[in-house]
Amino acid sequence: MSSHAILPRSFTKQYPVAARAHGARIWDTQGREYIDLSGSAVVNFIGFGNDTVVQAMAEQASRLPFVHSSQFTSEIAEHFAAEVLDFAGPAFEGGAVFFTCGGSEAVETALKLARQFQVETGHPDRCEIISRQQAYHGSTLGALAVSGNLSRREIYLPMVREFEHIRIPYCYRCEFSCELGCDDCGRKYADDLRHAIEHSAGRAAAFIGEPISGATLGAVAPPPIYWPAIASICKEHGLLLIADEVMTGFGRTGRNFAMDHWNVAPDILVAGKGIGSGYAPLGAVIVSARVVDALRKGSGMLIHGFTYNAHPVSMAAGSAVLAHIREMELVQAADSEHGSIGQAFMQALHLLEEIEAVGDVRGLGLLHAVEFVRDRATREAYPAALKFSGKVAAAALKRGVLTYPMQGSIDGTRGDHILLAPPAVELDRLLEAVHLLGDAIREASDQAARS
Ligand SMILES: Cc1ncc(COP(=O)(O)O)c(C=O)c1O
Repeated sequence: MSSHAILPRSFTKQYPVAARAHGARIWDTQGREYIDLSGSAVVNFIGFGNDTVVQAMAEQASRLPFVHSSQFTSEIAEHFAAEVLDFAGPAFEGGAVFFTCGGSEAVETALKLARQFQVETGHPDRCEIISRQQAYHGSTLGALAVSGNLSRREIYLPMVREFEHIRIPYCYRCEFSCELGCDDCGRKYADDLRHAIEHSAGRAAAFIGEPISGATLGAVAPPPIYWPAIASICKEHGLLLIADEVMTGFGRTGRNFAMDHWNVAPDILVAGKGIGSGYAPLGAVIVSARVVDALRKGSGMLIHGFTYNAHPVSMAAGSAVLAHIREMELVQAADSEHGSIGQAFMQALHLLEEIEAVGDVRGLGLLHAVEFVRDRATREAYPAALKFSGKVAAAALKRGVLTYPMQGSIDGTRGDHILLAPPAVELDRLLEAVHLLGDAIREASDQAARS
């Protein structure tokens, strides 16, 4: 087909037409099979083709497809909210959940909630959100304002309000000499927040970050000291801590939420992607009791809303997905240290390190990235014009393997990586796909060497 009624992401790319999906695989209308090593875009966690989820959605759609949240709540929304709070752990006891249709809406909600919290608690000057370079928080204008992904935000910059973006820990290319090990640099990166708060002169309302970086930097986990240090700086200075767990939440990294790796309890947790595992458009803002109480005792209003928040069919999907995650112990399965799938997947990925073009393999659970380098000794990246990660993704696709390629890992322009985040199912297929990925990387580096 040469032209489409759908406005495409790219006018030059030929998109296969997807026909069906099961487990970790998708088939197109030509009958070609793809192994989904990236969970599409870090979405599919439980595997496709789950009849229980589909039935729950169908039953809900037939009984009560929709109510508007200004007029009704629904049994399924109340039920799922209670389940999500329980899944988020004791720090969210007495809290509440605001459901959205995806990650960007959830981030927007969290930013506005942080502002409203500050106003309700007597700090009307606090209106700035500090965030990090090389982060991605979504495509709406507020989410883009706090994102650091250069290519996704550059042309919109004149339309967004800019707040401070601090540096992000990046062990493979750390800016510090780390004489005291990672504690040293972890503290220094966290201290950037302290300085940004000072610059904001009393206007900082919140700090937002991805606990483990997502698309932009590619699955970098910070030094263990980093998030506890950030949390204590936020507390000391009256900022809310917003953890954007759109990619990392709901088991993806081998914990319910990635912040659990460091026992850090944010004030607001933002979820998306894995919460619905692709069965329905769904995101969530999980809010601690302190923030909810501020609104309840203050104006008594949430000055925000979407037509489709807490959509009953999405609620039914989310609840059935979570039940499946719990029943099949998929969070444990995804754990990279002891998990049945996470550990084997990580070990297989590390075998790719024998390929010269592989500079770094990193990540946790079922969220990993492979960063490519032209020269391993100096860690020199491929020239951006070569589009190396795109070449790897194309070579992988040729072999029926889906990946999530990104450029600009180092500074928004230089640096190539692919993100790998499969569902916690069909381990044999995933291992086969990692093997094929190795061949794809070799093919791309041979091509690069010839160019
Ligand atoms: C960390 C993070 N936050 C927010 C978003 C935006 O989510 P959505 O694309 O569902 O709007 C994304 C999407 O990739 C993300 O990775």
